[in-house]
Amino acid sequence: MRMVDLIEKKRDGGELTTEEINFIIEGYTNNEIPDYQVSAWAMAVFFKDMTERERADLTMAMVHSGDTIDLSAIEGVKVDKHSTGGVGDTTTLVLAPLVAALDIPVAKMSGRGLGHTGGTIDKLEAIEGFHVEISKEQFVDLVNRHKIAVIGQSGNLTPADKKLYALRDVTATVNSIPLIASSIMSKKIAAGSDAIVLDVKTGAGAFMKTAEDAKELAQAMVRIGNSVGRKTMAVISDMSQPLGFAIGNALEVKEAIDTLRGKGPKDLEELCLALGRQMVFLANKASSLEEAEEKLREVIRSGKALEKFKEFVANQGGDPSIVDHPEKLPQAAFQIEVPAREDGVVAEIVADEIGTAAMWLGAGRATKDSEIDLAVGLMLNKKIGDPVKTGESLVTIHANRKEVTDVIEKIYANIRIADHAEAPVLVHGIV
Ligand code: URA
Ligand code: CA
Repeated sequence: MRMVDLIEKKRDGGELTTEEINFIIEGYTNNEIPDYQVSAWAMAVFFKDMTERERADLTMAMVHSGDTIDLSAIEGVKVDKHSTGGVGDTTTLVLAPLVAALDIPVAKMSGRGLGHTGGTIDKLEAIEGFHVEISKEQFVDLVNRHKIAVIGQSGNLTPADKKLYALRDVTATVNSIPLIASSIMSKKIAAGSDAIVLDVKTGAGAFMKTAEDAKELAQAMVRIGNSVGRKTMAVISDMSQPLGFAIGNALEVKEAIDTLRGKGPKDLEELCLALGRQMVFLANKASSLEEAEEKLREVIRSGKALEKFKEFVANQGGDPSIVDHPEKLPQAAFQIEVPAREDGVVAEIVADEIGTAAMWLGAGRATKDSEIDLAVGLMLNKKIGDPVKTGESLVTIHANRKEVTDVIEKIYANIRIADHAEAPVLVHGIV
Protein backbone atom coordinates (compact mmCIF):
# COMPACT_ATOMS: atom_id res chain seq x y z
CA MET A 1 0.00 0.00 0.00
CA ARG A 2 1.23 3.51 -0.78
CA MET A 3 0.09 6.58 1.12
CA VAL A 4 0.03 8.70 -2.03
CA ASP A 5 -2.65 6.42 -3.53
CA LEU A 6 -4.81 6.76 -0.43
CA ILE A 7 -4.53 10.55 -0.49
CA GLU A 8 -5.54 10.51 -4.16
CA LYS A 9 -8.49 8.21 -3.47
CA LYS A 10 -9.84 10.50 -0.74
CA ARG A 11 -9.10 13.62 -2.78
CA ASP A 12 -11.33 12.20 -5.53
CA GLY A 13 -14.14 11.45 -3.09
CA GLY A 14 -13.53 7.73 -2.64
CA GLU A 15 -14.19 5.60 0.45
CA LEU A 16 -11.15 4.07 2.17
CA THR A 17 -11.30 0.47 3.38
CA THR A 18 -10.70 -0.57 6.99
CA GLU A 19 -7.22 -1.85 6.03
CA GLU A 20 -6.38 1.44 4.34
CA ILE A 21 -7.42 3.48 7.39
CA ASN A 22 -5.44 1.17 9.70
CA PHE A 23 -2.44 1.57 7.38
CA ILE A 24 -2.56 5.37 7.69
CA ILE A 25 -2.99 5.45 11.48
CA GLU A 26 -0.43 2.73 12.24
CA GLY A 27 2.07 4.23 9.81
CA TYR A 28 1.62 7.69 11.26
CA THR A 29 1.92 6.52 14.88
CA ASN A 30 5.13 4.60 14.03
CA ASN A 31 6.61 7.59 12.18
CA GLU A 32 6.63 5.64 8.91
CA ILE A 33 4.30 8.07 7.15
CA PRO A 34 5.47 11.70 7.24
CA ASP A 35 3.46 14.71 8.46
CA TYR A 36 3.14 16.19 4.96
CA GLN A 37 1.30 13.17 3.61
CA VAL A 38 -1.01 12.92 6.61
CA SER A 39 -1.77 16.66 6.32
CA ALA A 40 -2.70 16.22 2.68
CA TRP A 41 -5.01 13.34 3.62
CA ALA A 42 -6.59 15.36 6.46
CA MET A 43 -7.25 18.22 4.04
CA ALA A 44 -8.85 15.77 1.60
CA VAL A 45 -11.08 14.52 4.44
CA PHE A 46 -11.92 18.14 5.29
CA PHE A 47 -13.31 18.64 1.78
CA LYS A 48 -14.65 15.15 0.94
CA ASP A 49 -15.88 13.95 4.35
CA MET A 50 -15.92 10.33 5.53
CA THR A 51 -18.67 7.73 5.48
CA GLU A 52 -20.04 6.44 8.78
CA ARG A 53 -18.03 3.25 8.38
CA GLU A 54 -14.82 5.18 7.75
CA ARG A 55 -15.43 7.35 10.84
CA ALA A 56 -15.90 4.28 13.05
CA ASP A 57 -12.79 2.66 11.56
CA LEU A 58 -10.70 5.79 12.11
CA THR A 59 -11.92 5.97 15.71
CA MET A 60 -11.00 2.35 16.44
CA ALA A 61 -7.64 2.64 14.68
CA MET A 62 -6.80 5.53 17.04
CA VAL A 63 -8.12 3.59 20.07
CA HIS A 64 -5.73 0.74 19.21
CA SER A 65 -2.75 3.03 18.67
CA GLY A 66 -2.01 2.96 22.43
CA ASP A 67 -3.13 1.63 25.79
CA THR A 68 -6.78 1.02 26.60
CA ILE A 69 -8.21 0.99 30.10
CA ASP A 70 -9.86 -2.18 31.33
CA LEU A 71 -12.67 -1.42 33.77
CA SER A 72 -14.07 -4.96 33.79
CA ALA A 73 -13.17 -5.40 37.48
CA ILE A 74 -15.81 -2.77 38.27
CA GLU A 75 -19.32 -4.14 38.64
CA GLY A 76 -22.25 -2.62 36.77
CA VAL A 77 -22.63 -0.51 33.64
CA LYS A 78 -19.93 2.17 33.60
CA VAL A 79 -21.22 5.39 32.08
CA ASP A 80 -18.87 8.23 31.27
CA LYS A 81 -19.78 11.85 30.50
CA HIS A 82 -17.84 14.11 28.19
CA SER A 83 -18.23 17.80 27.49
CA THR A 84 -16.84 19.41 24.36
CA GLY A 85 -15.70 22.23 26.60
CA GLY A 86 -17.22 25.38 27.98
CA VAL A 87 -16.75 28.17 30.48
CA GLY A 88 -17.54 27.65 34.15
CA ASP A 89 -18.78 24.14 33.38
CA THR A 90 -19.30 22.63 36.80
CA THR A 91 -21.39 19.66 35.61
CA THR A 92 -18.89 16.86 36.36
CA LEU A 93 -18.62 17.87 40.03
CA VAL A 94 -22.40 17.66 40.32
CA LEU A 95 -23.09 14.66 38.09
CA ALA A 96 -20.52 12.27 39.54
CA PRO A 97 -22.02 12.11 43.07
CA LEU A 98 -25.54 12.57 41.72
CA VAL A 99 -25.53 9.40 39.61
CA ALA A 100 -23.33 7.48 42.09
CA ALA A 101 -26.09 8.09 44.64
CA LEU A 102 -28.26 5.91 42.38
CA ASP A 103 -25.67 3.08 42.56
CA ILE A 104 -24.27 3.77 39.12
CA PRO A 105 -20.49 3.26 39.08
CA VAL A 106 -18.58 6.46 38.33
CA ALA A 107 -14.98 5.55 37.51
CA LYS A 108 -13.67 8.94 36.48
CA MET A 109 -10.32 9.48 34.91
CA SER A 110 -9.65 13.16 34.70
CA GLY A 111 -7.02 15.65 33.74
CA ARG A 112 -5.87 19.11 34.61
CA GLY A 113 -5.56 20.63 31.20
CA LEU A 114 -5.48 24.13 29.85
CA GLY A 115 -8.36 26.51 29.94
CA HIS A 116 -10.24 29.29 31.65
CA THR A 117 -10.30 27.29 34.88
CA GLY A 118 -8.54 24.10 35.85
CA GLY A 119 -9.89 20.64 35.07
CA THR A 120 -12.01 18.51 37.39
CA ILE A 121 -8.96 17.41 39.38
CA ASP A 122 -7.77 20.98 39.99
CA LYS A 123 -11.22 21.94 41.20
CA LEU A 124 -11.39 19.02 43.62
CA GLU A 125 -7.93 19.86 44.92
CA ALA A 126 -9.42 23.10 46.23
CA ILE A 127 -10.65 20.80 49.02
CA GLU A 128 -7.94 20.49 51.69
CA GLY A 129 -6.30 17.04 51.56
CA PHE A 130 -8.15 15.75 48.48
CA HIS A 131 -5.86 13.81 46.17
CA VAL A 132 -6.09 11.58 43.10
CA GLU A 133 -2.77 9.80 43.56
CA ILE A 134 -4.34 6.43 44.28
CA SER A 135 -3.36 3.05 42.83
CA LYS A 136 -5.41 1.30 40.14
CA GLU A 137 -6.42 -1.30 42.76
CA GLN A 138 -7.61 1.34 45.22
CA PHE A 139 -9.51 3.05 42.42
CA VAL A 140 -11.36 -0.12 41.46
CA ASP A 141 -12.01 -0.98 45.10
CA LEU A 142 -13.42 2.49 45.86
CA VAL A 143 -15.77 2.36 42.88
CA ASN A 144 -16.99 -1.12 43.80
CA ARG A 145 -17.62 -0.16 47.41
CA HIS A 146 -18.73 3.48 47.09
CA LYS A 147 -19.64 3.77 43.37
CA ILE A 148 -17.37 6.79 42.88
CA ALA A 149 -13.68 7.62 42.56
CA VAL A 150 -11.47 9.93 40.52
CA ILE A 151 -7.96 9.08 39.38
CA GLY A 152 -5.44 11.10 37.37
CA GLN A 153 -5.00 10.21 33.73
CA SER A 154 -2.17 7.77 33.19
CA GLY A 155 -0.83 5.58 30.44
CA ASN A 156 -0.33 6.17 26.79
CA LEU A 157 -3.91 6.68 25.58
CA THR A 158 -4.57 7.31 21.86
CA PRO A 159 -1.11 8.53 20.79
CA ALA A 160 -2.34 8.64 17.18
CA ASP A 161 -4.96 11.22 18.16
CA LYS A 162 -2.37 13.31 20.00
CA LYS A 163 -0.19 13.43 16.93
CA LEU A 164 -3.00 13.95 14.46
CA TYR A 165 -4.71 16.66 16.54
CA ALA A 166 -1.43 18.60 16.82
CA LEU A 167 -0.93 18.29 13.06
CA ARG A 168 -4.51 19.42 12.33
CA ASP A 169 -3.97 22.40 14.59
CA VAL A 170 -1.27 23.78 12.29
CA THR A 171 -2.77 22.71 8.95
CA ALA A 172 -6.26 24.28 9.21
CA THR A 173 -7.96 20.88 9.47
CA VAL A 174 -9.28 20.97 13.04
CA ASN A 175 -12.76 22.06 12.04
CA SER A 176 -13.89 18.88 10.32
CA ILE A 177 -16.78 16.93 11.80
CA PRO A 178 -15.46 13.42 10.99
CA LEU A 179 -12.05 14.30 12.43
CA ILE A 180 -13.40 15.97 15.59
CA ALA A 181 -15.91 13.19 16.20
CA SER A 182 -13.36 10.39 15.85
CA SER A 183 -10.80 12.32 17.93
CA ILE A 184 -13.17 12.77 20.88
CA MET A 185 -14.70 9.30 20.65
CA SER A 186 -11.33 7.54 20.43
CA LYS A 187 -10.31 9.02 23.79
CA LYS A 188 -13.63 8.14 25.44
CA ILE A 189 -13.58 4.57 24.10
CA ALA A 190 -9.96 4.00 25.13
CA ALA A 191 -10.93 5.13 28.65
CA GLY A 192 -13.02 1.99 28.97
CA SER A 193 -16.62 2.85 29.88
CA ASP A 194 -19.57 0.85 28.57
CA ALA A 195 -21.75 3.83 27.75
CA ILE A 196 -21.08 7.48 26.96
CA VAL A 197 -23.12 10.65 27.42
CA LEU A 198 -21.92 13.66 25.45
CA ASP A 199 -22.54 17.32 26.23
CA VAL A 200 -22.02 19.10 22.92
CA LYS A 201 -21.81 22.84 23.49
CA THR A 202 -22.87 25.51 21.06
CA GLY A 203 -22.42 29.30 21.11
CA ALA A 204 -19.67 31.86 21.60
CA GLY A 205 -17.90 29.86 24.31
CA ALA A 206 -17.93 26.64 22.30
CA PHE A 207 -16.14 24.91 19.49
CA MET A 208 -19.33 24.70 17.42
CA LYS A 209 -20.70 28.21 17.03
CA THR A 210 -24.14 27.23 15.67
CA ALA A 211 -26.74 24.76 16.96
CA GLU A 212 -26.86 23.09 13.52
CA ASP A 213 -23.14 22.32 13.56
CA ALA A 214 -23.36 21.12 17.14
CA LYS A 215 -26.20 18.78 16.21
CA GLU A 216 -24.26 17.37 13.29
CA LEU A 217 -21.23 16.75 15.54
CA ALA A 218 -23.44 15.15 18.20
CA GLN A 219 -25.04 12.84 15.66
CA ALA A 220 -21.64 11.88 14.25
CA MET A 221 -20.33 10.94 17.71
CA VAL A 222 -23.49 9.07 18.75
CA ARG A 223 -23.33 7.01 15.54
CA ILE A 224 -19.67 6.16 16.07
CA GLY A 225 -20.26 5.09 19.68
CA ASN A 226 -23.27 2.95 18.91
CA SER A 227 -21.62 1.34 15.89
CA VAL A 228 -18.63 0.17 17.95
CA GLY A 229 -20.72 -1.24 20.79
CA ARG A 230 -20.74 1.67 23.27
CA LYS A 231 -24.23 2.96 23.95
CA THR A 232 -24.03 6.70 23.34
CA MET A 233 -26.41 9.65 23.73
CA ALA A 234 -25.89 13.41 23.56
CA VAL A 235 -27.32 16.69 24.77
CA ILE A 236 -26.77 19.85 22.74
CA SER A 237 -26.47 22.72 25.20
CA ASP A 238 -26.05 26.46 25.11
CA MET A 239 -22.64 27.98 25.80
CA SER A 240 -23.36 31.52 24.59
CA GLN A 241 -22.98 32.61 28.23
CA PRO A 242 -21.04 30.84 31.02
CA LEU A 243 -22.89 28.03 32.81
CA GLY A 244 -24.09 28.83 36.33
CA PHE A 245 -22.69 31.81 38.22
CA ALA A 246 -19.19 30.65 39.23
CA ILE A 247 -16.07 30.61 37.06
CA GLY A 248 -13.10 29.53 39.15
CA ASN A 249 -11.98 26.41 40.97
CA ALA A 250 -13.03 26.76 44.63
CA LEU A 251 -15.97 28.92 43.53
CA GLU A 252 -17.22 26.08 41.32
CA VAL A 253 -16.85 23.51 44.12
CA LYS A 254 -19.12 25.68 46.24
CA GLU A 255 -21.53 26.01 43.30
CA ALA A 256 -21.58 22.23 42.82
CA ILE A 257 -22.40 21.72 46.51
CA ASP A 258 -25.26 24.24 46.27
CA THR A 259 -26.58 22.39 43.22
CA LEU A 260 -26.41 18.98 44.94
CA ARG A 261 -28.49 20.60 47.67
CA GLY A 262 -31.09 21.73 45.12
CA LYS A 263 -30.07 25.35 45.58
CA GLY A 264 -27.79 25.88 42.61
CA PRO A 265 -28.18 28.08 39.54
CA LYS A 266 -31.18 26.98 37.47
CA ASP A 267 -29.25 26.50 34.23
CA LEU A 268 -26.60 24.33 35.86
CA GLU A 269 -29.28 22.22 37.52
CA GLU A 270 -31.24 21.86 34.28
CA LEU A 271 -28.18 20.72 32.35
CA CYS A 272 -27.13 18.26 35.07
CA LEU A 273 -30.60 16.72 34.98
CA ALA A 274 -30.58 16.53 31.17
CA LEU A 275 -27.20 14.76 31.13
CA GLY A 276 -27.87 12.77 34.29
CA ARG A 277 -31.10 11.27 33.04
CA GLN A 278 -29.32 9.91 29.95
CA MET A 279 -26.62 8.43 32.21
CA VAL A 280 -29.21 6.76 34.45
CA PHE A 281 -31.13 5.46 31.44
CA LEU A 282 -28.02 4.03 29.75
CA ALA A 283 -26.99 2.39 33.03
CA ASN A 284 -30.34 0.52 32.94
CA LYS A 285 -31.49 2.10 36.19
CA ALA A 286 -34.67 3.52 34.64
CA SER A 287 -36.90 2.46 31.77
CA SER A 288 -37.47 5.97 30.45
CA LEU A 289 -35.75 9.36 30.57
CA GLU A 290 -38.67 10.74 32.60
CA GLU A 291 -38.31 8.03 35.23
CA ALA A 292 -34.55 8.62 35.31
CA GLU A 293 -35.06 12.34 35.93
CA GLU A 294 -37.51 11.66 38.75
CA LYS A 295 -34.93 9.40 40.44
CA LEU A 296 -32.30 12.13 40.19
CA ARG A 297 -34.62 14.73 41.68
CA GLU A 298 -35.36 12.34 44.52
CA VAL A 299 -31.69 11.87 45.54
CA ILE A 300 -31.30 15.65 45.55
CA ARG A 301 -34.43 16.09 47.70
CA SER A 302 -33.48 13.32 50.13
CA GLY A 303 -29.93 14.62 50.62
CA LYS A 304 -28.46 11.33 49.35
CA ALA A 305 -26.55 13.08 46.55
CA LEU A 306 -24.93 15.49 48.99
CA GLU A 307 -24.04 12.61 51.35
CA LYS A 308 -22.43 10.82 48.41
CA PHE A 309 -20.31 13.88 47.70
CA LYS A 310 -19.10 13.95 51.33
CA GLU A 311 -18.30 10.25 51.22
CA PHE A 312 -16.38 10.69 47.98
CA VAL A 313 -14.35 13.61 49.36
CA ALA A 314 -13.49 11.74 52.57
CA ASN A 315 -12.51 8.54 50.68
CA GLN A 316 -9.86 10.47 48.78
CA GLY A 317 -8.35 12.25 51.76
CA GLY A 318 -10.38 15.46 51.60
CA ASP A 319 -12.07 17.30 54.42
CA PRO A 320 -15.84 16.63 54.06
CA SER A 321 -16.70 19.42 56.51
CA ILE A 322 -16.25 21.91 53.64
CA VAL A 323 -19.69 20.81 52.45
CA ASP A 324 -21.35 22.41 55.46
CA HIS A 325 -18.62 25.04 55.87
CA PRO A 326 -17.72 26.24 52.38
CA GLU A 327 -15.85 29.17 53.98
CA LYS A 328 -13.08 26.61 54.60
CA LEU A 329 -12.40 26.51 50.84
CA PRO A 330 -9.58 28.77 49.63
CA GLN A 331 -10.74 32.41 49.70
CA ALA A 332 -9.36 35.26 47.63
CA ALA A 333 -8.03 38.33 49.44
CA PHE A 334 -10.15 40.85 47.50
CA GLN A 335 -13.77 40.91 46.36
CA ILE A 336 -14.40 43.65 43.85
CA GLU A 337 -17.83 44.50 42.41
CA VAL A 338 -18.33 45.51 38.79
CA PRO A 339 -21.40 47.82 38.77
CA ALA A 340 -23.69 48.28 35.77
CA ARG A 341 -23.22 51.66 34.10
CA GLU A 342 -26.75 51.83 32.69
CA ASP A 343 -30.29 50.52 33.24
CA GLY A 344 -31.63 47.77 31.02
CA VAL A 345 -31.58 44.04 30.51
CA VAL A 346 -28.45 41.89 30.18
CA ALA A 347 -28.39 40.89 26.51
CA GLU A 348 -25.00 39.24 26.09
CA ILE A 349 -22.27 37.72 28.30
CA VAL A 350 -19.61 36.53 25.86
CA ALA A 351 -18.63 33.21 27.41
CA ASP A 352 -15.10 32.72 26.13
CA GLU A 353 -14.02 36.33 26.77
CA ILE A 354 -15.39 36.25 30.33
CA GLY A 355 -13.55 32.95 30.77
CA THR A 356 -10.36 34.65 29.65
CA ALA A 357 -10.88 37.35 32.29
CA ALA A 358 -11.04 34.60 34.95
CA MET A 359 -7.84 33.13 33.54
CA TRP A 360 -6.09 36.49 33.84
CA LEU A 361 -6.86 36.39 37.56
CA GLY A 362 -5.06 33.05 37.73
CA ALA A 363 -8.05 30.66 37.68
CA GLY A 364 -6.74 28.73 34.67
CA ARG A 365 -3.53 27.73 32.95
CA ALA A 366 -2.27 29.65 29.94
CA THR A 367 0.52 27.11 29.43
CA LYS A 368 1.13 23.58 30.68
CA ASP A 369 3.44 24.82 33.43
CA SER A 370 1.41 27.76 34.77
CA GLU A 371 0.36 27.66 38.40
CA ILE A 372 -3.34 27.88 39.19
CA ASP A 373 -4.75 30.01 41.99
CA LEU A 374 -7.65 27.90 43.28
CA ALA A 375 -9.28 30.77 45.19
CA VAL A 376 -9.75 33.31 42.40
CA GLY A 377 -12.39 33.74 39.72
CA LEU A 378 -15.63 35.47 38.86
CA MET A 379 -19.17 35.24 40.21
CA LEU A 380 -21.83 36.41 37.79
CA ASN A 381 -24.57 38.27 39.59
CA LYS A 382 -26.69 38.65 36.44
CA LYS A 383 -27.36 36.35 33.51
CA ILE A 384 -28.82 37.01 30.07
CA GLY A 385 -32.43 38.19 30.36
CA ASP A 386 -32.01 39.64 33.88
CA PRO A 387 -33.04 43.28 34.37
CA VAL A 388 -30.35 45.51 35.84
CA LYS A 389 -30.20 49.02 37.31
CA THR A 390 -27.27 51.42 37.20
CA GLY A 391 -24.91 50.68 40.08
CA GLU A 392 -26.08 47.09 40.63
CA SER A 393 -23.26 44.57 40.54
CA LEU A 394 -22.93 42.58 37.31
CA VAL A 395 -19.99 40.49 38.46
CA THR A 396 -18.00 39.99 41.66
CA ILE A 397 -14.29 39.58 41.03
CA HIS A 398 -12.46 37.30 43.48
CA ALA A 399 -8.81 38.29 43.19
CA ASN A 400 -5.53 37.90 44.97
CA ARG A 401 -4.27 41.17 43.49
CA LYS A 402 -5.64 44.58 44.27
CA GLU A 403 -5.23 46.07 40.83
CA VAL A 404 -7.74 44.48 38.42
CA THR A 405 -8.39 47.22 35.86
CA ASP A 406 -7.58 44.80 33.01
CA VAL A 407 -10.23 42.36 34.22
CA ILE A 408 -12.84 45.05 34.79
CA GLU A 409 -12.34 46.42 31.28
CA LYS A 410 -12.64 42.95 29.78
CA ILE A 411 -15.90 42.37 31.68
CA TYR A 412 -17.41 45.68 30.53
CA ALA A 413 -16.39 44.95 26.95
CA ASN A 414 -18.14 41.58 27.01
CA ILE A 415 -21.37 42.17 28.89
CA ARG A 416 -23.89 44.03 26.77
CA ILE A 417 -26.94 45.72 28.23
CA ALA A 418 -29.91 46.46 25.98
CA ASP A 419 -33.57 47.46 26.24
CA HIS A 420 -34.89 43.92 25.77
CA ALA A 421 -33.41 40.44 25.86
CA GLU A 422 -34.55 36.97 26.75
CA ALA A 423 -32.75 34.16 28.49
CA PRO A 424 -31.38 31.72 25.88
CA VAL A 425 -32.75 28.21 25.54
CA LEU A 426 -30.32 25.96 27.46
CA VAL A 427 -30.97 22.55 25.93
CA HIS A 428 -31.15 22.80 22.13
CA GLY A 429 -31.84 19.14 21.60
CA ILE A 430 -31.01 15.59 22.50
CA VAL A 431 -29.59 12.91 20.24
N1 URA B 1 -11.42 18.16 20.85
C1 URA B 1 -10.77 17.02 20.59
O1 URA B 1 -10.46 16.25 21.48
N2 URA B 1 -10.49 16.73 19.31
C2 URA B 1 -10.81 17.53 18.28
O2 URA B 1 -10.52 17.20 17.16
C3 URA B 1 -11.47 18.74 18.58
C4 URA B 1 -11.77 19.02 19.88
CA1 CA C 1 -20.29 27.56 36.84
